Amino acid sequence: MRRRLAGPALVTATATALVVTGCGSSGSSDSSGSSSASDAKLSVRAAYMPQPVSDSMAAGFLVLANDGTTADELTSVTSDIAQDVTVHETTGQSMQEVAALKIPAGGELVLKSGGDHLMFENLKRKPKEGETVSLRLNFTKSGAITVEMPVRSATYQPTSGH
Ligand code: CU
Repeated sequence: MRRRLAGPALVTATATALVVTGCGSSGSSDSSGSSSASDAKLSVRAAYMPQPVSDSMAAGFLVLANDGTTADELTSVTSDIAQDVTVHETTGQSMQEVAALKIPAGGELVLKSGGDHLMFENLKRKPKEGETVSLRLNFTKSGAITVEMPVRSATYQPTSGH
């Protein structure tokens, strides 16, 4: 089980201040100086997993919206149904694992069939239509978000259009 360290670009701004107040806060030093309003504000919608045809692999899709003023990055995913969950990018006909996917400030990251997606590998059990799969998305700025992802039919197509 490989766990990627989501190194949030640790701005090595040590030296200057010797008084380090407390611990715990993941010291993100914003150059803007705006104290708390500078965060990414993420929300998840339209999550689903088509019932997998394979015993070992499944794909997952969702839309991540960022209503904040700071971009964020999806860096890793975990789920109790699979040993590995990776983030894949589709280019042309092939897909490849990527280290992170960006959610722009005021924008969206759309994971959809034929595009970027989550890949559940080494399934511990095979999800069935009607079930819900729990997963945890890890972000550089926003920490972790838990998503309950419904399992749809193998041929399910979301009807969301613009
Ligand atoms: Cu893939």
